[in-house]
Amino acid sequence: MYTQDVYFWRAGAIATVVFMCVVLAALTIDTLRQISPGGARVPSYDVINSAVTYQYDTSRGEYLPKIGGEELIFGHRYTEDEASTLIAKGKLVIQSRACIDCHTFFGNGGYYAPDLTRAWMDPVWAISPGPKRAERLAKFLTNPLRLGARPMPNLKIRRDEAEAVVAYLKWLSSVDSNGFPDRFGAPGAN
Ligand code: HEC
Repeated sequence: MYTQDVYFWRAGAIATVVFMCVVLAALTIDTLRQISPGGARVPSYDVINSAVTYQYDTSRGEYLPKIGGEELIFGHRYTEDEASTLIAKGKLVIQSRACIDCHTFFGNGGYYAPDLTRAWMDPVWAISPGPKRAERLAKFLTNPLRLGARPMPNLKIRRDEAEAVVAYLKWLSSVDSNGFPDRFGAPGAN
């Protein structure tokens, strides 16, 4: 049935716009709930006090970060506020050195150097387990040693800046990113 009744079409357009606004608002609220620290997918900042590993989850069929028991970095237990300040500083260091020109985070950025989403878990830092991992990563950032085919440049990162970046990378590695990157650090992967 076709009608030229202008009120019919106007009412239809308004109803559609209102309905889609409600859907958009619901999706935005849900997204914010999922991506806020302490939310469904992003642990609160004080997760840097705990062990974070990448394990296969059979129910979801993908690798997921698993938060374990206490595993301090740099011998310090950070409160939520301290961790939040430190991670914000790490983010600023990362932005100031434009790490994303070479690296990717969650797959976004430059494809010259490895993705950093799970860099914290790279087995290369695991030679000394536990707290030593943070130390090795911080040393690498202040004075990069060659690991693979391409060297990482020395970006003149200070020790305090490196610690902040390590905290940022540890927190980042705990984010549930739907199994990305797949099988990172698993035997035979990478
Ligand atoms: C000019 C390009 C470039 C920039 C800019 C750069 N990197 Fe790198 N980075 C590399 C390369 C290349 C490697 C691989 C080094 C190797 O294999 O020896 C690397 C390796 C790394 C690793 C080890 C990755 C892993 O999975 O173990 C970390 C961590 C890292 N970079 C952090 C950073 C951070 C943080 C910044 C910014 C402060 C940064 N990089 C800026 C090129 C860069």
